[in-house]
Amino acid sequence: MKKIEKVGGFESKITVYVVVCWVLAACGGLMFGYDIGISGGVTAMDDFLIKFFPAVYQRKLRAKEDNYCKYDNQYLQLFTSSLYLAALVSSFAASKMCSKLGRKPTIFVASAFFLCGSLLSAAAQRIWMIILARVLLGVGVGFGNEAVPLFLSEIAPVQHRGAVNILFQLFITIGILFANLVNYGASKIHPWGWRLSLGLASLPAAFLFVGSVVIIETPASLVERNQESQGLSTLKKIRGVEDVDAEFEQIKMACEAAREVKDPFKRLMKRSSMPPLIIGVMMQVFQQFTGINAIMFYAPVLFQTVGFKNDASLLSSVITGLVNVFSTLVSIYGVDRVGRRKLLLQACVQMFISQTAIGAILLVHLKGSNSLDEGLAGLVVVLVCLFVMSFAWSWGPLGWLIPSETFPLEIRTSGFACAVSSNMLFTFIIAQAFLSMMCHMRAFIFFFFAAWIVVMGLFVLFLLPETKNVPIDAMVERVWKQHPVWKRFMDDYDGKEGVKNVGMII
Ligand code: BGC
Repeated sequence: MKKIEKVGGFESKITVYVVVCWVLAACGGLMFGYDIGISGGVTAMDDFLIKFFPAVYQRKLRAKEDNYCKYDNQYLQLFTSSLYLAALVSSFAASKMCSKLGRKPTIFVASAFFLCGSLLSAAAQRIWMIILARVLLGVGVGFGNEAVPLFLSEIAPVQHRGAVNILFQLFITIGILFANLVNYGASKIHPWGWRLSLGLASLPAAFLFVGSVVIIETPASLVERNQESQGLSTLKKIRGVEDVDAEFEQIKMACEAAREVKDPFKRLMKRSSMPPLIIGVMMQVFQQFTGINAIMFYAPVLFQTVGFKNDASLLSSVITGLVNVFSTLVSIYGVDRVGRRKLLLQACVQMFISQTAIGAILLVHLKGSNSLDEGLAGLVVVLVCLFVMSFAWSWGPLGWLIPSETFPLEIRTSGFACAVSSNMLFTFIIAQAFLSMMCHMRAFIFFFFAAWIVVMGLFVLFLLPETKNVPIDAMVERVWKQHPVWKRFMDDYDGKEGVKNVGMII
């Protein structure tokens, strides 16, 4: 147990129980990450292609003539991206459930769907079964990605909110790495290795299933649903101290405003809701336009495209997976110290340089069927690692953190659902389009992403406020009403944030 910390008038101490809650809830990230990591490897396995996509397999055999196009098949892409469509739609249902029943049951439902989906995909005999399984997994991801980041942001003490929320991203990266390792082993097991890869998704789902029983409901969700005394005792329990009056007062005021709002989606359309809505949605859209998932889903395919053999390419994606996990730790350390903006801006520079360099190497050296020589292929892997590294301490975690901490309570679940569904929509678009884009744009695809990185850098520079150390229920007063651009939107804000009792936070 750590000593008591006092920040902005709020006391807290980190207890074993609250750490257990953080870790168990973050297993939602493990589920999401496992799926991201597994799909690319499975679609590169011949046994899987022969069973479900024989036409793609034939094309792959004859594909000597054009590296960039050998995997371009809409059905194959649909396998990867159907999950994101299901997640997109279900995040709205998840938002309703989060408000009406709480974060905890929503997390439970997420794990149940994901468990069913993973078992069905392992047992699938026909293509419709595999697509149905993807839909079930997608509903799991939609519910999990809605509830888990909100849960973590609400349950964390203000001075550690960034770090706690980023546990979600850390677990995403561990899930991706675990999936890469599983694929590496499973690709050697013929003809059913792919079943193992898909079936093992049940492990993270089982962790979350258990987690959802053990974790506590968040105080804000309890008070919002008129369970005030339980909310107070929960707050005492998770803060590990008796004196939680200042924070509880703030939660109560935020809840009063939230209860008055009958239709949160309508409320979301008000002028004063625009600042967090635009930021929340754009953080997710930009996160996807870094091009990260072109690399994550298709790393093995991508590395094969630039001339690695099957095994070498899976191995390279294990390396990028490791870089992804370790660089996320940098973010956990830095986010509440250096702040959100600096991390995002530094990363834009590093991502821009690596994407342009990859594009230039491929443009000059990889023509049609030729592969890269060993040295250059190694350099591409290094550049991909530099790219992944900077994503992992910036747009990866902050894409989830910032939308989960900037909405006032009355529109928190609905606003966050818009952010989650934008993430899913653009993940879907990239997953669906990437292989065709690579086939048509060739090396230029990397310049395409580099151009987006410039746009998002400017967006952060001019429009993104710093939210480090601002209590989650004081964002309107401390952030939106103070920002040179966004304050103009706040004149019709009639919520009641409880900021009066709380000292300023530096
Ligand atoms: C993104 C995923 C991405 C992953 C990579 C997450 O934050 O939402 O789309 O694949 O990071 O680590």
